[in-house]
Amino acid sequence: MQAFVWILPAYVANMAPVFARGIKSPLAVPVDGGAVAPDGKRWLGNGKTWQGLIAAVIAGALTGYALPGCSASLGAFLGFWAIMGDMAGSFAKRRLGMPRGSKAGLLDSMDFITFALVASVPFYPWELKQLLLVLLATPALHRGANILGYILKLKDVPW
Ligand code: CTP
Ligand code: MG
Repeated sequence: MQAFVWILPAYVANMAPVFARGIKSPLAVPVDGGAVAPDGKRWLGNGKTWQGLIAAVIAGALTGYALPGCSASLGAFLGFWAIMGDMAGSFAKRRLGMPRGSKAGLLDSMDFITFALVASVPFYPWELKQLLLVLLATPALHRGANILGYILKLKDVPW
């Protein structure tokens, strides 16, 4: 349990862009600015916006602030790395020729948590079995959260 509490800011941060989607702001524009990589595909695609990135950092900060043993700054830091992992996942999907919103299985569910866990290592006394527990549980948690988001009409697809 402790392990999931430590890394909770990353989970909340990863969900934040979906909640922020409805907000019409000048930041709701793609991080890659619409630019295309030399392979002819987008660097990241329209699913990765500045608004989502900032929402993730803020959500991480709020979660960190509320959690015992964490802080707003550590939460923001974990949220930042979670959303960097999410963007790295989209970068990889585009390089593989997979369109925005396509299903990428473990890549979709593991990208954010892998980055956040690595970033968190200096801050928590992780035991190897805790890291593995979080990694192994994440695909199921991610899937559950996405199905819920789909039912609540926050997401267009249940993955
Ligand atoms: N989102 C965003 N900014 C981000 C991350 C996500 O605005 N940095 C929003 C987008 O509306 C996105 C939705 O959250 O469509 C769901 O995120 P995700 O599943 O990560 O993106 P996909 O649309 O599936 O795109 P990709 O194929 O690149 O993962
Ligand atoms: Mg997706």
